[in-house]
Amino acid sequence: MIISAQLSHLDEIVAIENSSFEKPWSRKQIKDDIQANINSENWVFTLDRKVVGYIFGWISQNEFHLHNIAVHPDHLRKKIGKKLIQHIISKVVDQKVNVILLEVSINNISARKCYQSLGFVKGGVLKDYYSKGDDAILYNLEIN
Ligand SMILES: CC(C)(COP(=O)(O)OP(=O)(O)OC[C@H]1O[C@@H](n2cnc3c(N)ncnc32)[C@H](O)[C@@H]1OP(=O)(O)O)[C@@H](O)C(=O)NCCC(=O)NCCS
Repeated sequence: MIISAQLSHLDEIVAIENSSFEKPWSRKQIKDDIQANINSENWVFTLDRKVVGYIFGWISQNEFHLHNIAVHPDHLRKKIGKKLIQHIISKVVDQKVNVILLEVSINNISARKCYQSLGFVKGGVLKDYYSKGDDAILYNLEIN
């Protein structure tokens, strides 16, 4: 089930964030994002009322900026990531959004494959964006 992210989900989101990223967002960053509800789209995927994944981003004019997505390590490869992105598409398509944008580490093969499986197209490269030798690849998906 995909539901709007609430502060009551914060602990579970932080736990997934910390187990998914080498440089996780801080608890404060996540909390601020949940509370900043102007033009933001923050959703969690729940199984038996437990948070097993989330997606965060916001709308800027006709663009949706996907800022964070992660699935609990015990629940990878169950199409949860894909369903979260498809959910976002269904939410923003009626809000004059015509493109979804994101950046991802060149070394993050799972995420890149996930985006490519949904039709995201590779754009530019931001050299050494995350750290020396860790470039960001820009992806976009036209939805309208
Ligand atoms: C990226 C992420 C959210 C994908 O979530 P997921 O629920 O495991 O992915 P899905 O099950 O929806 O996979 C959809 C497709 O993506 C591709 N894919 C996902 N993980 C993959 C992997 N480890 N290896 C190869 N392909 C993969 C496959 O094409 C898959 O379709 P298939 O299972 O039919 O082959 C997840 O790997 C994750 O949380 N990673 C850690 C956090 C992260 O890096 N977030 C992205 C930051 S930019």
